Amino acid sequence: MDSVAKVSEVPNFGKKVVSISGREILLVNVKGTVYALENECPHQGSPLNAAVVKDGYISCPRHGYRFNLTDGRCAEHPEFVLATFPVQLIGDEITVDLG
Ligand code: FES
Repeated sequence: MDSVAKVSEVPNFGKKVVSISGREILLVNVKGTVYALENECPHQGSPLNAAVVKDGYISCPRHGYRFNLTDGRCAEHPEFVLATFPVQLIGDEITVDLG
């Protein structure tokens, strides 16, 4: 796991895109819990950095599919799963495990 950003760089209810090993990863901070998601919708590939985050879901701005922040499962169409990655906070450092 490598440090990819500082918690202070991702405001509460805010997002930050980082590049890890050539992949765009979207960090989302919800009340101090940081989630790491692929910044590409599994439906038709729209980036998710402009998506709305609400009630544990991120809503794709293109067609509105909602993905669970924890397991990436789509609420409307479970066959679509957004890639999510384990996050560990070490002090102010955010580390992400791409596996
Ligand atoms: S591209 Fe994201 S819901 Fe269609």
